[in-house]
Amino acid sequence: MAGRWLGAVMAALLITTGMAVVVTPQAVALENGLSRTPVMGFNNWNSTHCRAEFNEAMVKGIADLFVSRGLKDAGYQYVNIDDCWAEPQRASDGNLVPNRTRFPNGIKAVADYVHSKGLKFGIYTSAGTVTCDGQGFPGGLNHEEQDARLFASWGVDYLKYDNCGDHQGQSAQQRYTKMRDALAATGRPIVFSICEWGSNQPWTWAQPVGNSWRTTGDISDNWGSMLDIFKRNVGLAPYSQRGAWNDPDMLEVGNGGMTDVEYRSHFTLWSMMNSPLLIGADLRKVGQSTFDVLTNRDVIALDQDTLGIQAGEISNAGGRHVLAKPLENGDVGVALFNESGSAQTISTTATAAGLGNATSYRLRDLWSKVETTTSGAISASVPAHGTVVYRVSRQGTFATPAAGTTQVSDLTPALSSNAWGPVEKDRSNGEQGANDGRTLTIGGITYNKGIGVHARSEVRYYLGGKCTQFTATVGIDDESGDNGSVTMEVWAAGTQLANSGLLRGTDGPKVLLADVTGQSYVHLAVLPTQDGINYDHADWANATVTCS
Ligand code: GLA
Repeated sequence: MAGRWLGAVMAALLITTGMAVVVTPQAVALENGLSRTPVMGFNNWNSTHCRAEFNEAMVKGIADLFVSRGLKDAGYQYVNIDDCWAEPQRASDGNLVPNRTRFPNGIKAVADYVHSKGLKFGIYTSAGTVTCDGQGFPGGLNHEEQDARLFASWGVDYLKYDNCGDHQGQSAQQRYTKMRDALAATGRPIVFSICEWGSNQPWTWAQPVGNSWRTTGDISDNWGSMLDIFKRNVGLAPYSQRGAWNDPDMLEVGNGGMTDVEYRSHFTLWSMMNSPLLIGADLRKVGQSTFDVLTNRDVIALDQDTLGIQAGEISNAGGRHVLAKPLENGDVGVALFNESGSAQTISTTATAAGLGNATSYRLRDLWSKVETTTSGAISASVPAHGTVVYRVSRQGTFATPAAGTTQVSDLTPALSSNAWGPVEKDRSNGEQGANDGRTLTIGGITYNKGIGVHARSEVRYYLGGKCTQFTATVGIDDESGDNGSVTMEVWAAGTQLANSGLLRGTDGPKVLLADVTGQSYVHLAVLPTQDGINYDHADWANATVTCS
């Protein structure tokens, strides 16, 4: 027994770098390098459907307004067209033909105009024999390469690929993968937006296929539709990854069917959920209040935060929803959303939101811009259908680890975020409530101390410049059996200090060492790999910091 144990330890001592090296983050999504944050832009569908006002003048007018009304400066980039842009028949050479009335100068002329404004241009077709409008324009199925080449020749930067028409016996995964490959073969960077309405649970397979996938049926411009989609999308947070986002459909802000309070909720919730922010209103016809919502940069910053974690719903009772979204700089976005028809007080705490180890917290209200300070309580009276959203920052004084070597599981994290259930202290991840895991075990070896997490997880400890070394024995916990695969990374101040490489359920323990001399924080990240998040139970066993 002792021999086997020793052998495992020897095998584990593949010590990964203790030197600061910047490496490219592990690929966990479609490798086209695009949409590292959710796409921001415009799509005509919600405001025009196939009506005649969807035409060249509209697209150019939107591009003009993106520039003149500050939307481009706020981050909106893609001007996209939806269904009904084509003629009902392909040309004799098989190419799609732009509708002669709507786009008399063709699509390339429109794309050129959009590009001349420093913006990008997107188009639409369907992964079936016809598109979704009743008129049934030609779809892309079995024409993937020809259509992708044509789009690339027109200067298309984004493709929305719908799901209508006959599928000719091909699965969604097959059909969307074919178009992914056809787009890649053009050599032009084209964002790939999957639109199969959540029918085939794309969150379980589409990360390596598309940059986003619709999770639900179509939104309409009313409170009930928006609320229903929010509820379906919010629980899919663990599946959202950098470059591969859940898409709860385009924005209705400005289309007139909801109140300003409801539109602010819609925009806040979509931003908290890392949704693509595609404006769905005809900006030539909306008032100032619509621009005010769409250009709230503090809310946009939640959506575009480079950590790329979709907010988790940390409580929901009586229509009082609390969402928390960890952010790159260690702050947390906290949204208090009141689904009910009367004003309600909605409350949570900094600890529940994943923040800790500070004597006080600053709350910045991202709509009113008022700043307040709290020792931990986060609470607001929220109007019917309204949302109060704060950016919460740690302030005051932070405890530092004692001199000597300390187990990090005995420290209070500055930030803790975990895909399923809480970060577990001295236990593996049990996926649900606190303390539902088991003894930390990697490759048959058990550990009394450490933290048990589930990818994707981000945990940060405050060191206050007092420490020199971080070390941990890492791996997938044995409770995952032969399943699971992750990479485990140690970061500080935006630099990666150590990386486990690919870890599978069958692997034994591995030791990670990092020089954290002078660092304010050490940040522990566990990322899923391309096979998704199943059984990604990862242990930071015997994780210690040595400090003076
Ligand atoms: C489907 C899509 C919509 C829109 C229409 C166009 O319904 O889900 O977003 O593209 O088709 O016909």
